[in-house]
Amino acid sequence: MAPVPLSPIKVGHIYDVQELRKSKPATIPRRFVRGIAERSTLEQPTKHPLDIPIIDFSKLNQQNPDEHSTEISHLAIACQEWGFFQVINHGIDLNMLEAIEKVAKEFFMLPLEEKKKYPMAPGTVQGYGQAFVFSEDQKLDWCNMFALGLHPPAIRNLKLWPTNPPDFSETLENYSQEIRKLCQNLLEYIAETLGLKKNVFEEMFGLAVQAVRMNYYPPCPRPDLVMGLSPHSDGSALTVLQQAKGSYAGLQILKDNNWVSVQPVPNALVINIGDTIEVLTNGKYKSVEHRAVTESEKDRLTLVTFYAPSYEVEIGPLAELVDENDSCKYRRYNHGEYSKHYVSNKLQGKKALDFAKI
Ligand code: OGA
Ligand code: NI
Repeated sequence: MAPVPLSPIKVGHIYDVQELRKSKPATIPRRFVRGIAERSTLEQPTKHPLDIPIIDFSKLNQQNPDEHSTEISHLAIACQEWGFFQVINHGIDLNMLEAIEKVAKEFFMLPLEEKKKYPMAPGTVQGYGQAFVFSEDQKLDWCNMFALGLHPPAIRNLKLWPTNPPDFSETLENYSQEIRKLCQNLLEYIAETLGLKKNVFEEMFGLAVQAVRMNYYPPCPRPDLVMGLSPHSDGSALTVLQQAKGSYAGLQILKDNNWVSVQPVPNALVINIGDTIEVLTNGKYKSVEHRAVTESEKDRLTLVTFYAPSYEVEIGPLAELVDENDSCKYRRYNHGEYSKHYVSNKLQGKKALDFAKI
């Protein structure tokens, strides 16, 4: 039987939204059109004029004990009440942030043929494609993704590291080292907010896993009908999200049952608590559901780093955070198994965490 030629728009059973946009379809394909209850618009009633907290990293890093402890208490509030915050003065060279945006953008702008050399295999999350798609009737996100495992080296799939643009790998390597240090520092400060010894997470995590996902959201002619990225919480311990310069407020978080837009702050990095920290803190610091929406005229690029324990590690609520008032809410489990569970299900709010709930 002659093979059925693949449309360039549909890669395997998945649409490529950049190609789809180029083809200027008269209507949005049904697989992207959300049910009424799942739709979003950028213009929502602003019940929450609130912005997510801003944490000044240079103050956390201060020798001056007053400034340090004031910022630590801001961080505690950010973790407990928001699960999301933006870090300013993080000390990462702005040229490096610009450089990673540049190579990522260059990669997404390559012809599809070139990007298809790095395909995301079904059931995996590394490479170019759309992760978390498991059925033909599942709604698709208006987003192209390119994801790579970075640390420990054993999770690297070097065949998926692009040779084009030529400076991609080196730039990613340098960038990820800086982001790794930031994650380690933030976890120490988060431990401090909980009254725990500062290296508690690092000691527990073993060889921490680090992965990056680049999300490219092309403009969408009907942003009101689609979702850029389905609502989810992250399976990581911490996530660091960089929005490319000039991004519109495409990221929204669920705060007291309202979707609140994260207003981009120039050069800041958005940090959020992942499921792992929720479990370790016995729910004191919760992972917060979030999603991405699109725009009709503008594209948007985000660079997202996930930082998590080694797959070998057993985790469960820390003994210090369980007592007669706070009974243990999560069971102990192997983090590798949780990761597997997370990536083998579609993104669906905080459903993945049911895995750990008692
Ligand atoms: C993610 C994520 C949001 C965004 O990749 O996990 O939440 O704005 N991304 O790209
Ligand atoms: Ni996320």
